[in-house]
Amino acid sequence: MCGIVGYVGGRPCRDLLVAGLEKLEYRGYDSAGISLLQDGHIDSVHAVGNLGNLRAAVGIGDEGAGAGGVAVAAPPATTGLAHTRWATHGRVTEENAHPHGDCSGDIQIVLNGIVENHTELRAELRAEDHDFSSETDAEIVAHLIERHYDGDLTLAVRRCFAELRGHYAFAAMHADEAGTLVAARQECPLVVGLGESETFVASAIPAFLAETRRALTIENGEIVTITPRGATVTDADGNPVERHHEQITWDAEAAEKGGYETFMRKEIDEQPDAVAETIADRLPSRDRVDLSELELAPDFVAGMRRIVIVACGTSYHAGLVGRYAIEQWARVPVEMDIASEYRYRDPVVGSDDLVIGITQSGETADTLAAMRLARERGATVLALTNIVGSQATRDADAVLFTRAGLEIGVAATKTFTCQVAAMYLLGLWIAQQRGTIAADRLAELIAELKAMPNRVQETLSAVSEQVETVARAEHEGRFFLYLGRNIGLPVCLEGALKMKEISYIPSDAYAAGEMKHGPIALLDESTPVVCVATDSPTLDKMLSNMEEVRARGADVISVATAGSGRTADASDLTIEVPRTDWVLQPLVAILPLQLLAYHVARMKGLNVDQPRNLAKTVTVE
Ligand code: F6R
Repeated sequence: MCGIVGYVGGRPCRDLLVAGLEKLEYRGYDSAGISLLQDGHIDSVHAVGNLGNLRAAVGIGDEGAGAGGVAVAAPPATTGLAHTRWATHGRVTEENAHPHGDCSGDIQIVLNGIVENHTELRAELRAEDHDFSSETDAEIVAHLIERHYDGDLTLAVRRCFAELRGHYAFAAMHADEAGTLVAARQECPLVVGLGESETFVASAIPAFLAETRRALTIENGEIVTITPRGATVTDADGNPVERHHEQITWDAEAAEKGGYETFMRKEIDEQPDAVAETIADRLPSRDRVDLSELELAPDFVAGMRRIVIVACGTSYHAGLVGRYAIEQWARVPVEMDIASEYRYRDPVVGSDDLVIGITQSGETADTLAAMRLARERGATVLALTNIVGSQATRDADAVLFTRAGLEIGVAATKTFTCQVAAMYLLGLWIAQQRGTIAADRLAELIAELKAMPNRVQETLSAVSEQVETVARAEHEGRFFLYLGRNIGLPVCLEGALKMKEISYIPSDAYAAGEMKHGPIALLDESTPVVCVATDSPTLDKMLSNMEEVRARGADVISVATAGSGRTADASDLTIEVPRTDWVLQPLVAILPLQLLAYHVARMKGLNVDQPRNLAKTVTVE
């Protein structure tokens, strides 16, 4: 997730802006940049890599002595914008780092999120002779503002905003308007910090918390103009919006966590945004999935014989969900393998196979080895990863990025839902390319998938308290059993993994149909049995398994599709998730299970961000 900081006021702002970016480092980034306005002229500097490189490039710490850097408008520029970028569109290069300028360089913008209609807008602007200097969707915004600029930056931003579709927040400046920044928000966070004769705009409060604790939150569809005297907020039509500031009382550490007690909880709540970013521009219209970024030869996609998915841990569970989706929609056989098994079993794999390595870090040793082995044997290898520039991206023929942003908590949460969302995109895209899905069914699923970020949000809001109550009742349990069928099974496997790794309570997940072949012996009156019983073609079977569990006196806690009275009747306690197409249910069904593991662990006083014996990236074999 990228970071935005902007400043207008009376102080030289270069160092203030870089200090603000440092406070946003925890969000993850791969490049950074700064633009400073002085004497009617804007200087910009970009650097790939960490903020140390940007500091060197602007000469901080080695004033005037070079440090291999180019001094930009030396202090005292008092208007500026800065940004840390996490690549989504375009490679990690200086050209793609923000701020981005218009044709003249007089307008500079920084943007977080995704402009979904960037392809159309770029074509229009090109036809009007705009020259682009980066591969990013963000640069479009600078050129759109240029198209509308007539001496009033706020007006130009408002007109530009009306033409954008997507999920973003941006801030802009103009060389002729020193002491003014204009920012707009659509889904991505944007806050203003009000100081004494100085004002900040940022993507998160930590960016200015060292300077002021008076903050103003900008809402969706709003535009804010800041000057040293304060902020003026309007809606997208220019109507004034009354907004009162709040006083921030968190300490610096809590600020990094955005006011949350743990990174894990924060990351659970980031899932609606992360899923939205992952699907965003890949569903550019009502009837088409666009994964042209994969650059897989159409003949290969049409003719491939089989898909093999290799992964570890949570990523393996995302692959299992993907298998249902791909087989259901694209009718290609899919095999799943745990990467540490696959690489050692002399697998039969060849040039008709697509091998998908799923790894959020892109550095997991076993997954990388499995991908390399398959590639040596002639398979086409696709990496599904969250990290631009990771080893997996170099070991693959094609790469599909999730856009979850940095995940600091060791337990994967938002990276899982983004992997699942990406597998849905892939399943639909393969089906579209192979012509195995009817046009109306494709359109229906695209509409459902687009609605998922809202459904994820609704679910988190609706189930949190209920799950906390379940956790309170069960957190001293000695064992949790998870049962599911069909797409419910990978959800159970993932729920049980979360419970083990952060609460240290033994837990097992089983295909419900397997229960009578052994695990039923585990059940007694003290066993909580979590059943994922959302609507699916096997719901009836699942309901009979739940009856069998209850007959042994164990408590059934079910995750059910809203309004499914039958599931509620077969359960002691039901947690409802919104109705969606059944294949998409894992995206919402996993949320109560993540929250359950989280609350149980917290009630046991455990460190959920750094569980014992576990590291975020497993690079040893
Ligand atoms: C569990 C978890 C791990 C990872 C696994 C693979 O919460 O995070 O199970 O999923 O170590 O990691 P990646 O996806 O980086 O290959």
